[in-house]
Amino acid sequence: MFFKIQKAPKGNLAYLIDQTTQLDETDLDKSEKAYIAQQLKNEAKMCSINRYTHQIYILFIDTKGAEWLIAEKMRKQGAALCGSLNQLKATEVHISNLSTQKRAAYFLAEGLSLANYQFLKYKSNAKKIAHSLNDIFFTNQSITVKELNELQTIVAAVCKARDLINEPLQYLTAEQLGKDIQALGKEGGFKVQVLGKAKIEQMKMGGIMAVNSGSILPPTFSIMEHRPQKFINKAPIVLVGKGIVYDTGGLSLKPTPNSMDRMKSDMSGAAVVAGIMYAVGMLDLPLHIIGLVPATENRPGENAYVPGDVITMYDGTTVEVLNTDAEGRLVLADALHYAKKYRPELVFDFATLTGAAANAFGDVAMCTMGTANEHTKQKIQSSGFAQFEKVIELPLWDEYGQMIKSDIADLKNIGGPTGGAITAGKFLEHFTDYPWMHFDIAGVSHHISGKDYRPTGGVAMGIRMMVDFLMNYGK
Ligand code: BES
Ligand code: ZN
Ligand code: ZN
Repeated sequence: MFFKIQKAPKGNLAYLIDQTTQLDETDLDKSEKAYIAQQLKNEAKMCSINRYTHQIYILFIDTKGAEWLIAEKMRKQGAALCGSLNQLKATEVHISNLSTQKRAAYFLAEGLSLANYQFLKYKSNAKKIAHSLNDIFFTNQSITVKELNELQTIVAAVCKARDLINEPLQYLTAEQLGKDIQALGKEGGFKVQVLGKAKIEQMKMGGIMAVNSGSILPPTFSIMEHRPQKFINKAPIVLVGKGIVYDTGGLSLKPTPNSMDRMKSDMSGAAVVAGIMYAVGMLDLPLHIIGLVPATENRPGENAYVPGDVITMYDGTTVEVLNTDAEGRLVLADALHYAKKYRPELVFDFATLTGAAANAFGDVAMCTMGTANEHTKQKIQSSGFAQFEKVIELPLWDEYGQMIKSDIADLKNIGGPTGGAITAGKFLEHFTDYPWMHFDIAGVSHHISGKDYRPTGGVAMGIRMMVDFLMNYGK
């Protein structure tokens, strides 16, 4: 997708208005204006006029409700416009914001471009089914150069992360994930170091090694760094992403067909972190940020770890493994311990961690838990609403900690039959000694059937929320 500011709009036009008088600023004739006014009276949100060589769309913004709800309605209008333009095989659209809503063109284009995403790598008829739409132009007054750059970067970050989520294991092994992160680093301008199996063993990252033991493919541990000459944070911000490139459950095998089908997406947290790093690098945010991705598949191979095993984690904690399907917390724990060496001022982890989180909140919201201060939590909340990547907080009360105490080791890797999202969070908390927030994205990272600007397959929720948070950091 290509974005540009262009003075004289031509070709397909999309006008954004929130009052009918704004129609006077268009070149529509009297009868066309009367037709549009009538449509709007009938509560149409989008109408179009066919000029044969091009279409003119009038999008009416519904300004009722809170600011974040209005923004989301505009993104959805963008998604609807995307459908219409592609149906007409249009290659471009010119957006002209005549409304009183300052960022209307931004939100419309955001929904439009995110909806235009497709994953066609494995389609033999890709050329035929590819969306025709490629260029979004804006009139001068519709967007600033800064906003345009942000939009272009954030949309690219989300689409790159979606690609990673959509890739099957057959391509996206842990080693390939490391390579793809390296490529993103080259493009986005951040440093990447990928540790291999020998190093992971030498460092005694027992969580990652245990999960990897049933696999014939080696694990990786990717370390990303964005460190501009000047940055405003006193100590690094660390982002950790769960990189389980496939989760069979291990010997505690997931019952197929229903629960294993989507498990190539169990590295969504890694994709989200890589996407955030890409955006941070491209925008050259004045922040020192580290990204960590522990990656492996979880398989029931010959040497696989078994329920009952006691493993020693990277930080020395012993863990009784009672379910090999609770693997995410094991690899994350090692990465969270690794993060301590930066003495970070904040750590965020993103993980498709529990079915419990997905059951509780569906594909509507990310679950969060953590020890960060109230100010940080509030900022996360407001970025979540602003980007419509909503976040709901669960408590890390002591009672949940009691549920993961083991009889024979320090911890066990599962709690009881209930409270699963929180006992997983409590497990992670044990490996932190800094302000931290965990995001369980199990319910939101992958869609069985797409809606609006969130397509079928990889969604990559969390990137826009986090980039918004980081862009406003310290403000
Ligand atoms: N990757 C799964 C969580 C998941 C479930 C992600 C559904 C996306 C959709 C995770 O590794 C897992 O299997 N968790 C178990 C933990 C349980 C064994 C304590 C779960 O939630 O069932
Ligand atoms: Zn699992
Ligand atoms: Zn998993």
